[in-house]
Amino acid sequence: MNEIIDAISAAAVRVKKAIEFSDTGYSEHINKTGDTQLKLDIISDLIIEEEFAKVSSIKSIISEEKDETKLLHAKGRYTIGYDPLDGSSLVDVNLAVGSIFGIYENGTDGSNIVAAAYVVYGPRVELVTAQNEVTLYRLNESEKFVKAREIKLNEKGKLNATGATQKGWAPYHKKLIDEIFAEGYRLRYSGGMVPDLHQILLKGGGLFSYPSTTDAPKGKLRLVFEVFPFAFIFEKALGAAIDGKKRILDLKASRIHDTSPCFFGSKEEIKKVLNEYAKH
Ligand code: AHG
Ligand code: MN
Ligand code: MN
Repeated sequence: MNEIIDAISAAAVRVKKAIEFSDTGYSEHINKTGDTQLKLDIISDLIIEEEFAKVSSIKSIISEEKDETKLLHAKGRYTIGYDPLDGSSLVDVNLAVGSIFGIYENGTDGSNIVAAAYVVYGPRVELVTAQNEVTLYRLNESEKFVKAREIKLNEKGKLNATGATQKGWAPYHKKLIDEIFAEGYRLRYSGGMVPDLHQILLKGGGLFSYPSTTDAPKGKLRLVFEVFPFAFIFEKALGAAIDGKKRILDLKASRIHDTSPCFFGSKEEIKKVLNEYAKH
């Protein structure tokens, strides 16, 4: 597993440079989700693939930017699902973006995830890894990630990150979100799930929601390379992750680009969601 974290670290340094200095325009390709790929989405995907190709324990990779699973080492043990550049539409406005990694064994359902990591490219570059514990690392001047601290959520937080277009929310979802704001929670939503979830993790808790909507009943965020990795990280940080009614890590991904509604947070907020969603 250490060799995978090392490959993610090496890729992160290269992706950061690509973000800082490459063309921020669109390519002519559309990915499986239907998004027109930025040149940076493609560059980041290639950088990560190159670094993973050096690691013999990685059997195959599944990327947001690739239509199919790609075999790297037939005798390898792990499959890695990754989003090379999450929030890439925020690069042109110079907001923080990220990369997300889920490390799986024997399949890519929620129950198969054995470790997860993400990188935040903000004013600083940070790496968060989750195996038994969730650990924050910061990139130093010598381009090495140095451990900063462990991450553990409080039982209850203060932040509310509310995703998806409100016009498409179910009335009971709106009621839930209104009640949470009425309790004094503050809105924090940049539109990049990596910095938005990172903020909740580092500030001790809160709620991030990306619900089912009238135009996207299965939500927007993708199970294998966005939702399962963060569900794993939140559980290991003593928080929780659900799709509204069920624990995310009990879900199955029947296709690699499948999406799911998702809620990540500290235990108190997730209990509130469960209570409200159980009525519908
Ligand atoms: P990506 O750039 O990898 O396609 O992901 C963008 C995602 C995620 O980062 C964010 O939480 C969500 O899209 C924001 O969507 P809305 O603008 O619909 O809230
Ligand atoms: Mn994404
Ligand atoms: Mn992406």
